[in-house]
Formats: sequence, C-alpha cells, structure tokens
Amino acid sequence: MSKVRAQTSVFDYMQGYTLCTVLSALEELGVLDALAADGLRAEQIGSNEFLTRATLRYLTERGIVAEDGDRVRLTEFGRTVYADRGYLVWLSGGYGEAMTAFGDLLTGKRRFGEDIDRNVRWVAVGSAEIGQKDMWPYVVDLARRFKFQHIADLGCGNAHYLISLCQEVGARGIGVDISPASCKEAEQEVAKAGLTDRISIIEADAGDLKKVPGIDGVDLVFTFFFLHEVLEHGFDVLVAYLRQIQQSLPAGAHMLTAEVAPPGCEADGMELFTPEYALTQALMEQRLLGEDGWRKAFTEAGFEIADVVTPDLPEARIYLARKP
Ligand SMILES: C[S@@+](CC[C@H](N)C(=O)[O-])C[C@H]1O[C@@H](n2cnc3c(N)ncnc32)[C@H](O)[C@@H]1O
Repeated sequence: MSKVRAQTSVFDYMQGYTLCTVLSALEELGVLDALAADGLRAEQIGSNEFLTRATLRYLTERGIVAEDGDRVRLTEFGRTVYADRGYLVWLSGGYGEAMTAFGDLLTGKRRFGEDIDRNVRWVAVGSAEIGQKDMWPYVVDLARRFKFQHIADLGCGNAHYLISLCQEVGARGIGVDISPASCKEAEQEVAKAGLTDRISIIEADAGDLKKVPGIDGVDLVFTFFFLHEVLEHGFDVLVAYLRQIQQSLPAGAHMLTAEVAPPGCEADGMELFTPEYALTQALMEQRLLGEDGWRKAFTEAGFEIADVVTPDLPEARIYLARKP
C-alpha cells in the first residue's frame, strides 16, 4: 500500500493544483519555452492585462520566476519544475476537463468518452516531454544492444521515440495512432525533423494489426504506454495480441514496451506518481499490471524477456522482449 507523506498539508495541495494548472496553460499557449529561453513579459501571454500580470506576480511569489527589468525569468527552482513540465501538461492539459467534471463522472450523470474526454493532444505532448527526460536515455541504451532497420511504434502519440530512434540509428518507421489529433501532431514533428521520407504516420486502431500496413516488415516494435489500452479488454486479449505481434516478426526481432506499475508494487511504498496515474487510467476503465504480469504476458505470447529496466519516470519499467 502507498505510504502517505505526513508533512503535506491542504495548502500544499492548493499550491500544487494552482501551479499545475497555470504552468500547463502557459505550455498550451506556447510561451513556456520562451520563458525558459529569454524570460517573459506579461503582454506576451495574452490580452487580459490584469490576469497576465497577476499570473506573473503569483509565479514570483511561489519562487518559480524572478523579476528582471521588463520581464520575469525562471529561478533555479523554476528550472527544475520546467524540466518536469511534461507531468503537469499531461495531467492538467490532458485530463483537466475530466478532473473538473469528476463529480458527474462518479455519479454517472456524464460519461467519460461520450460526454467528456481526455485531450489526446496534450496527453501526447506531456508524454513526449516526460519521455524525453525520464525515459529516452534508457531507451537508447537498450536499443544500442541489437540491430534493427524497420520500427513500428504502436500508439505513437507525437512519435517522439520513433523520430529520435530513426535519427539515432538511421532506421525507417511507421507510427500508428487512433487519435487524429495525435497523428497530426506526429506528422508535424516528423516534418520538422525532415524525416517524411523515412517515417509514415498511420491513423488506425493498432489493436487490430490487420489495419496496420507494413507490420510484417518490421524488426522492432515499440508500444510505450499503449499496451494497457489492450489490457483493458482482458489479460487473454493482451496475450493474444502480443502473440499476433510475435508471429508477424522475424526470429531475433525485438519489442520495447514501457508501462507504469500499479500502486503497491514499490518495496518502500513511497510512490510519487502511480496512485494519480492509476486514477486517471480508471477514467477509461483501464487497469495497470505489475512486472510479474508483464513478464507472464510476454512469455505466454512466445517472447523471451531480455531485460527489464527502471527508468527515471517514477514506478515505470521498460521491458525488452525478443522473439527466439
Ligand atoms: C499515453 S499515450 C503514449 C504515447 C507515446 N507512445 C508515448 O509514450 O509518448 C497513448 C497513445 O495511444 C493511443 N491509442 C490509444 N488506443 C489506441 C489504439 N487502439 N490504437 C492506436 N493508438 C491508440 C492514444 O491516442 C495515445 O496517443
């Protein structure tokens, strides 16, 4: 069971909620990078002069920024928060609307996925920012251990892993996502990276491999924070899906997966992220699986687990599986 950190007070929650909302909004407005690079003036944020000034004053009071002439700049503490902004964007930008409607979702007055939804674009952008900092060094270290030329990234979001890995090793790739907003974001990122000749983005349900053209030609499959979407339909469905992937791959091919473990899996019980993550996933009636469960699923599907790595993303694991 998760241990509750005793020193928190209700005012820490108020501060966390407000900072999360404000910083995520600044990222959504596209001004957070400017703040980090050159500092920010109130008029760069928007036309509501009273509120923009109050916002910069608030961030100053909370030690995120400090005044510097006509602008504010990130403090040293502000820089550490900025480096981890992906968690805030993922939560507030991605799930903020659903969290505001939480009461209605509890009573059933409104239904998630019908009356209210997550914002997939900000889920994808937040995930990418988290991934770049807390996952990528571990991913690239694992990927350097074997050779591959064709990657499929299932549930690719904005395709940041796919783009970075294709750049790193000169591979080609397909990115598949069910969300039009994610695909649009991914296509923009691929174009920005100058990789349109090597990476194609396909809008499709990756849960049905028949809808993924080219899947039988790949030798590395990525499924980062996607397989729990398949697990939603049951453990047997997950194993059958992994078996289908296994059968489409050549011998010696690899699969890289990342997932967050459910609450209660960490030996010291000091869980930073997974209780909140598990609750957001419960909006979609999704549950999480621990390391033993993932090992079992891959093994039953005919893969060997080559390695399991603990990245900096709290309570996450990266699984490297290999087809014998
Ligand atoms: C948490 S995001 C992870 C994105 C990316 N893999 C990453 O780690 O940054 C999960 C992604 O899976 C996509 N997704 C969910 N169900 C899907 C399905 N059935 N087929 C394809 N994509 C799906 C969502 O649209 C979303 O972009």
